[in-house]
Amino acid sequence: MPGVSLYTRLPFPLLLLEESGDLSLLRAHLKSHYRSLGARSRRLRFMGEPTTEALDRLADRADPELVLELVEDGSIRAVLEAYATSPGHVEVAISVEDKYQGKGLGRALFEEGLDVLAARGFRTADLFCLRENAALLRLVARAGAKTRIDDGEVHVEIELGRVLDQIRKPESAPTASAA
Ligand SMILES: CC(C)(COP(=O)(O)OP(=O)(O)OC[C@H]1O[C@@H](n2cnc3c(N)ncnc32)[C@H](O)[C@@H]1OP(=O)(O)O)[C@@H](O)C(=O)NCCC(=O)NCCS
Repeated sequence: MPGVSLYTRLPFPLLLLEESGDLSLLRAHLKSHYRSLGARSRRLRFMGEPTTEALDRLADRADPELVLELVEDGSIRAVLEAYATSPGHVEVAISVEDKYQGKGLGRALFEEGLDVLAARGFRTADLFCLRENAALLRLVARAGAKTRIDDGEVHVEIELGRVLDQIRKPESAPTASAA
């Protein structure tokens, strides 16, 4: 599969596709991934009920700065999309194929994605989700992201430096003992 394969601690190989690379390939990957999402996942990802034709149109026009994918045996299981909206700032969306949800793929890809974005000089990231999106809210809460509710949607604000410090903190750091 074309793109840059990065072998990391992730459960599946990570593929990085860039807008500056082959945009039509990137869009084709998004189209196939969007089509693999069931009705509930589509609603949570797009905060509406897009038809397959509407999703195809979205994919055909998509212009993300970069897309990170977890790929199992040539099949895309999870995607993180990053759209640069202003200097130093990026909007992020993430989705995991239905039958792979709840197995830690979303968290692994999200944390890896934030690392990649910070390394590329982005300082802040936003995500938008429905209030009922418990999995996404847990994902960002553990990373210490700030959330606020706008018109029934949750706006997640991430300062990449601060959130990455939080993510990298050991689960149970040993407490310093007095000498
Ligand atoms: C949101 C999403 C990306 C999370 O990815 P995932 O692989 O399913 O999630 P993970 O298994 O990594 O779990 C992430 C956290 O959510 C929790 N979680 C997972 N599924 C959950 C559920 N159905 N209800 C409540 N919490 C849930 C996990 O326990 C974990 O929290 P913890 O690490 O604090 O225990 C995925 O569920 C998805 O694609 N949903 C549809 C699209 C979407 O909602 N996109 C977000 C809008 S941009």
